[in-house]
Amino acid sequence: MMGCMKDIQNIVILTGAGISAESGVATFRGPDGLWEGHRVEDVATPEAFARDPALVQNFYDERRAKLQTVQPNAAHQALAKLDAKWPGDLLLVTQNVDDLHDRAGSKRLLHMHGELNSVWCRFCDGRSAFEGQLASTPACPRCSQAGYLRPDIVWFGEMPYQMERIEAALVQCDLFVSIGTSGAVYPAAGFVQSARYHGAQTLEMNLDPSEGSFHFHESRMGRAGDLVPGWVEGLLREVGDERV
Ligand code: OAD
Repeated sequence: MMGCMKDIQNIVILTGAGISAESGVATFRGPDGLWEGHRVEDVATPEAFARDPALVQNFYDERRAKLQTVQPNAAHQALAKLDAKWPGDLLLVTQNVDDLHDRAGSKRLLHMHGELNSVWCRFCDGRSAFEGQLASTPACPRCSQAGYLRPDIVWFGEMPYQMERIEAALVQCDLFVSIGTSGAVYPAAGFVQSARYHGAQTLEMNLDPSEGSFHFHESRMGRAGDLVPGWVEGLLREVGDERV
């Protein structure tokens, strides 16, 4: 079991596709190894985009449109409550490209794999908020050039965003919590080892043991919507935050 919560000031939370599963967003690694019928190398690499841009744009256009039909669940809401009430440092690092943490109200939030609702213009190198369809080759909202926008998503072979900020938070954290991720994709899969090396308590909440499950001090198995709200309430109670 975890050590004394009173010693915890700084928290880093890593989330993956599992936290959005109960909202109806598909996870990446289904039992068939496919991502909604596609091999990841056919839709989530720069090479795939160069080979067949229409296929890749359509794939992400569909995922972006789907966001309009889903809502944050109890796990997203609980993490937003923790963010609002936690007096120490807190950083929520999500691998998810959906906007459910944002819509639940999390503020100290970082999308390390990019966002469906953002586009990146390869002409002006600018990033813009975007909710439409890229398959129709719209003009860049910044520079007005058409045909240069791509999803602002970190593909395999590309560098995740804000790694320096994440590493600094991992060094400082007293508690590292991983929720709904299979632990199959680095560098995120290695965060538990970094945090633990620097002395953090480590907790995993997932439907089934992740690939790096044995690295955690404690693993709780179940659905995020069932586990996360209770964990947040317990944490806020233990630190005796009278604003809870
Ligand atoms: P995965 O699909 O690999 O793993 C999702 C994890 O969530 C699995 O371990 C499931 O058991 C678990 N899970 C499913 N339903 C759950 C629930 N209701 N509650 C809790 N856990 C549940 O997704 P990620 O680990 O997020 O990268 O994948 C990591 C990265 O691989 C993604 O960010 C994406 C992908 O390629 C990019 O797109 C760059």
